[in-house]
Amino acid sequence: MNIAANPIIEADQTVYLKDYQKPSFLVDSIHLDIQVYDEHSQVDAVLELTRQTDGDLVLLGRDLELKSVVLNGQQLSQEQYTLDAEQLVIRNAPNQIKLETSVIIHPESNTQLEGLYQAASDLFVTQNEPEGFRKITFYPDRPDVLSVFTTRVEADKKYPVLLANGNLIEAGEAGEGRHYTIWQDPTKKPAYLFACVIGDLAVLKDRYVTSEGRDVALEIYAEEKDIPKCHIAMEALKHSMRWDEEHYGRPYDLDNYMIVATSAFNMGAMENKGLNIFNTSCVLADEEYTTDAAIMRVQSVIAHEYFHNWTGNRITCRDWFQLCLKEGLTVFRDQSFSEDLQSAAVQRIDDVAVLKAHQFPEDSGPLSHPPRPDHFVEINNFYTATVYEKGAEINRMMATLLGKEKFRKGTDEYFERHDGQAVTVEDWVAALTAGSGVDLSNFLTWYNQPGTPKLEAEGHYDVAAQTYTLNFKQSLKAHPKYPNLKAVPIPVALALFDAATGEQLVLNSDSLFENAVKDGVYLFDQDQASIVFSGLSTKPVVSLLRNFSAPVNLEFNYTDEELAFLIQYETNGFNQWQATQTLLERILLNGHDAHIYIQAIKNTLPDLVAQDPLLASRLFDVPSEGYLGSRIDTDYEPVKIQEQRNALIEKLARELGEFCKDTYLALDPDLQKEFSQAMGVRALKNIMLSMMARQGDETAFELAYQQYEATANMSERLGALRVLVWNDAPQAEAALHDFYQRFKDEALSLDQWFTLQAAHPCATTETIQYLTSHADYDLGVPNRIRSVSGGLNANPVNTWSFGVDHFIGLAKYLDEKNPIVGSRLLQVLSRWYTLAEPQRSEVKAKLEALKPQVKSKNVSETLSSMLSI
Ligand code: BES
Ligand code: ZN
Repeated sequence: MNIAANPIIEADQTVYLKDYQKPSFLVDSIHLDIQVYDEHSQVDAVLELTRQTDGDLVLLGRDLELKSVVLNGQQLSQEQYTLDAEQLVIRNAPNQIKLETSVIIHPESNTQLEGLYQAASDLFVTQNEPEGFRKITFYPDRPDVLSVFTTRVEADKKYPVLLANGNLIEAGEAGEGRHYTIWQDPTKKPAYLFACVIGDLAVLKDRYVTSEGRDVALEIYAEEKDIPKCHIAMEALKHSMRWDEEHYGRPYDLDNYMIVATSAFNMGAMENKGLNIFNTSCVLADEEYTTDAAIMRVQSVIAHEYFHNWTGNRITCRDWFQLCLKEGLTVFRDQSFSEDLQSAAVQRIDDVAVLKAHQFPEDSGPLSHPPRPDHFVEINNFYTATVYEKGAEINRMMATLLGKEKFRKGTDEYFERHDGQAVTVEDWVAALTAGSGVDLSNFLTWYNQPGTPKLEAEGHYDVAAQTYTLNFKQSLKAHPKYPNLKAVPIPVALALFDAATGEQLVLNSDSLFENAVKDGVYLFDQDQASIVFSGLSTKPVVSLLRNFSAPVNLEFNYTDEELAFLIQYETNGFNQWQATQTLLERILLNGHDAHIYIQAIKNTLPDLVAQDPLLASRLFDVPSEGYLGSRIDTDYEPVKIQEQRNALIEKLARELGEFCKDTYLALDPDLQKEFSQAMGVRALKNIMLSMMARQGDETAFELAYQQYEATANMSERLGALRVLVWNDAPQAEAALHDFYQRFKDEALSLDQWFTLQAAHPCATTETIQYLTSHADYDLGVPNRIRSVSGGLNANPVNTWSFGVDHFIGLAKYLDEKNPIVGSRLLQVLSRWYTLAEPQRSEVKAKLEALKPQVKSKNVSETLSSMLSI
């Protein structure tokens, strides 16, 4: 083979948005023939190409063994093309091309879980986003090349299931105990949405009739024993299909929709056209094996991948810099869907908690980047909290500002204009602007610059004038790579309350100054501005950034009493919760008195438990050690944060002691009709139980053990087990053993067993050693790696002591075996520079020592960004 060096790639591996160029050829159609054997697979491809602009024909390919290239019927010799490790280039190609290639690949030894890979002894699947298709065949593997795919799949009959995208048009015998199917996908798509599945799986079937009358066959494929755990996902799928029709006017466009579950998957799930492939953790759901939180996640991931059919598949991205176009919008859509499934306030609380715990720290450290990055080395490193979560927030801000009706007009315009196209963030904002009639172009600033804006506000009441003035100021931390940071449009949702009665004041236009606030939202889009409310006979209590209307760090000098007031009287559940968090942070970090918080909780809880038990449970959230640590930028000492937090929890447990016990005994999840209410009651009971155990209440252990034994519900069982294990209760060993025996053949439940032990606050190197050398630990299964690593990382004190070697060891081990996962795990250490000395220098030295030992672009890029601070 002719491997020519490619000096361009070697000199600088960075790709820039500004260098975007249209592809020289478009692919009118592709016929793929994939033949799977035990020791290799053969892929034959026939491409019909048409020239679009000048330039060479560039076909990307990686780890492919090229057998032959035929151009317009003529076999090419090695002098007629150049081939290197990344691409096959044909110079002076004619304008109309029929290109036939044949390659050999090795899915049976593909541990990176990208391209076509063997996922289990009886299963082969694909994962092609973002750049996996080039590991299957030579192709212009970029999202702006859309084509019509016809796929033949051939394998031994020991694999009865042979799937690909679109409609099944033929199936038959292939001799020597083999068989085949042929699939045709009528809609044009980029290669990253191609999928095929070869295996031995059982299937759950259902049907759905769209608003247009299309009768769609729904199929979820999983291992036989897991089929009973697919019903929740199936219901969620039908619900999502209806939801997208009702909220966005988008019916499904094919006659079938298939979902395949596999336990060997780097991510959560993938939206391949008509053939989603899911991590088992995001499909399988059953109260007996799955926690409530995991059940909610299954429903939202099913919705997310389904929603991509319109936002991602029918309208896709021009290039990978535009990733947040499809991901940010689709996350916003799945969040909105989930708000309809459970307490909307709690869904928002949980989404914001993720944003603040992951995206805010990412955006304030060395991995900070704009939601639409302008350069990258390895695109896989950019499936980040910023692209996803901040991307979703930008869409939410525009939706908030427009209101339901205008937002819908905007999205209608987007689908109308761009169906079948590969577009940019600018196209999206322009369509929203045109459809709604509201100029949103300054929101592009949000997409193009990094950092979390600081929003400083101060309120001033003037007795004589009976006015209340709010002064706003916004700022961004300077960034070396982005010198021209601009003010962004910040929708500030707000309300005023009567301090004496707790009633919300009606902001009619008389009471407003220059009509600055519309529908409870003030659009702050300058460096500084003020608004004045008039006609107020007493000083009001203001509630700012209701429902977290913008992803900013708000600084406002509430008094503790005002925060307690908001806990009791604010009708926006999110801001009620936010008030508890602000108050708790002050108690924790600034030594404020806890009594005000405790009294407010006691006043609020009884009614709230009846109304929204899940929200009631969230009011007990104490900011995690990890979150608190992320708020500290220098001289961070994890042990100190741990001590302060433990002291607070002990204080709360002491003062709420009786109350916790009474609440625990009074609540019964089985009396709740709705899943979401029962989930709330279970959450609340588990919190009460752990508070009781914290107090050293012996009966708490007995109650926990009873709860553990009596239940058939995973949230209850795991909640009880956690209390026993984390408090080293006498019953802990027996319960852990019992759990293992019960669930040893249920991979996802067993993951919980690993996580729970790794997350023990007093876990040690030995604990991790014991878990990672356990017979059921498997470095080939990302879920199992994450179960231990995720548990360990629940305690920053542990992460930053013995955890450092654990994560560095994993990054090194996975560097070539699974660089996508290796790179992600390493990011756990990205805030090393905030540590106090000598820890800071110690961790830095270890990271630097890793540098010469890693080869993959994924891990190298992450490591050098981490060290660039
Ligand atoms: N398109 C992604 C899946 C993906 C991303 C595959 C990167 C390969 C590389 C999918 O739509 C997605 O975003 N999945 C999320 C879950 C979702 C609910 C946010 C995931 O896999 O974590
Ligand atoms: Zn997605």
